[in-house]
Amino acid sequence: MTETDLRQNPPTASQSLEWHAGDMPYSVEFGDHFYCRTDGRLECGHVFLSGNRLPARWSAGGTFTIGELGFGTGLNFCETWRQWKEAQVPDGRLHFVSFERFPMRAGEIDRALAHWREIDAERRALVAPWPDAPAGRIDIDFDGVRLTVVCGMALQGVAQTRESFDAWFLDGFAPSRNPDMWSQELMQAVFDKTVKGGTFATYAAAGFVRRNLAAAGFVVERLPGFAGKREMLRGDKP
Ligand SMILES: C[S@@+](CC[C@H](N)C(=O)[O-])C[C@H]1O[C@@H](n2cnc3c(N)ncnc32)[C@H](O)[C@@H]1O
Repeated sequence: MTETDLRQNPPTASQSLEWHAGDMPYSVEFGDHFYCRTDGRLECGHVFLSGNRLPARWSAGGTFTIGELGFGTGLNFCETWRQWKEAQVPDGRLHFVSFERFPMRAGEIDRALAHWREIDAERRALVAPWPDAPAGRIDIDFDGVRLTVVCGMALQGVAQTRESFDAWFLDGFAPSRNPDMWSQELMQAVFDKTVKGGTFATYAAAGFVRRNLAAAGFVVERLPGFAGKREMLRGDKP
């Protein structure tokens, strides 16, 4: 779905989902799953956490701000929060800010995340305060952790956000199926909102994504992907 499609077809509050194997959401609009079918939680650890050199960087303490393109089911948030708690960061605060065009309903989040017993506590804590009709800017405070979900097109959300980011999870469906989430304009906005020394990581390895990130100013590195995927990308803001 392109920006033009969305302008011509006013966006709905949610996207049409199919459920594969009972608890694996699939977006009909984008023709893609929300995470890898092997194990989305382990993929999050490999791609987004390790790719951004986390949890190691948390040991510096203070507030660490993560930006994410595409909140989806909240799997990345829950797994990151789980690892944050495990890391027991002294005097640390985590702010996880995610940009999402089609926020899911609590029941959908619950259905998807119930797949992983490892994040039972985080799933329950997320679903309980999740609004019935998610819209606008959603701020939820947990113990030492703040979740912000900015509903709307990522490009507008990132360009207008007040936050600066230490790390980015770029998670906007396959680049071939959703090129708007990987556009030069959006990658530039991501770079502009990143602190010096900040990083990004993504499972995407498409040439145009790599070029857009490099043109924005990131020093981009290719690493082995998750579960046999040949490559993923990570990078630093010098
Ligand atoms: C691969 S899924 C994200 C999975 C998610 N991180 C998780 O933990 O479940 C991609 C998400 O990007 C959202 N999305 C697609 N295009 C968007 C856009 N232009 N702006 C903001 N969100 C978008 C979709 O609605 C979907 O939830």
